[in-house]
Amino acid sequence: MRKRHNLEPRMERCKEYLVTEPEARKGAWRKPGRGLNLEIGCGKGSFTCALAAAEPEQDLIAIEKVPDAMILAMERAQAEKLPNVCFLDYDAAKLREIFQPEELDRIYINFCDPWPKSRDAKFRLTAPSFLRIYADLLPLGGEIRFKTDNAALFDWSVQQMEQEGWILRALTRDLHAQGVRGILTDYERRFMEEGVPIKMLVAVREEKTLDGRAGEPPRLRDAALADARGNREGEEKQ
Ligand SMILES: C[S@@+](CC[C@H](N)C(=O)[O-])C[C@H]1O[C@@H](n2cnc3c(N)ncnc32)[C@H](O)[C@@H]1O
Repeated sequence: MRKRHNLEPRMERCKEYLVTEPEARKGAWRKPGRGLNLEIGCGKGSFTCALAAAEPEQDLIAIEKVPDAMILAMERAQAEKLPNVCFLDYDAAKLREIFQPEELDRIYINFCDPWPKSRDAKFRLTAPSFLRIYADLLPLGGEIRFKTDNAALFDWSVQQMEQEGWILRALTRDLHAQGVRGILTDYERRFMEEGVPIKMLVAVREEKTLDGRAGEPPRLRDAALADARGNREGEEKQ
C-alpha cells in the first residue's frame, strides 16, 4: 500500500468517523432497535460505504489494519455524509477485546489476503482461530459473509468452516455468472474486469459451531494453498 500524504491531518478532518478507544465501547456498540454488522479489512471502502447507504437501519463498523487504505474509506463516508458507519484502525485478531459475546449480527470478510504459505495459514482471516473469535461475537443464526477471487483460499475456508461446525448457505463459485449480484468491493471490481470468477458463501453460526470455549484449535498442518497468487499488487508481501 502506497504511503498516503498528510495522513494525520486527513484523519483529523474526518475524525467523527474514527473510533480511537474501541475497548471503551465493548458491550455498548448497539443502538436500540438497530442491526449491528462488522466488516473486516475494509480497504478503500467502496463496499463499506455502499452497504451503509443501502442499509440505513443497520450500523456498520469497519476495521482495517492499514490506515493508508482506510483514510480513503473514511473520506468517502464523510463525503456521502453517512450516519451509520464508523472506522477502526484495528487488527481482527483482537476483536474479543472490543466486542462482548453475541454483540454482532453479521461479519463481512471480502477478498482477504490468501497467505499462501503453509506457515502463514494462521493469518488467513478464515483460519480456525479467527472462526472461533467470530463464533463468540455472533449469536446463534449470526452470519459470516465471505467473498474471494482465490479458489484455493475458498476451498480451504469451506473445509475449515465445516470442521468448525458452521452451516454453509448460498455457496457459489461464480457469484456474477448471471450478471452482477450484490455490492461490489474495490478488489472485486478489479477481478471481474480480469474475468476471475468470484466465490461467495454465507456461514451461519449454530449450536455445534465451535467458539472460544473450545479453546485454541489444533495447529494447522499442510495448509499451503497450491494455486494461490501471492503478492498481488496492493497486497501485503507474504
Ligand atoms: C486484499 S484487501 C481487500 C480490501 C477490500 N475488502 C476489498 O475487497 O476491496 C484485504 C484488506 O484486509 C486488511 N486486513 C488483513 N488482515 C487484517 C486483520 N487481521 N485485521 C484488519 N484488517 C486486515 C488488509 O490491510 C487489506 O486492506
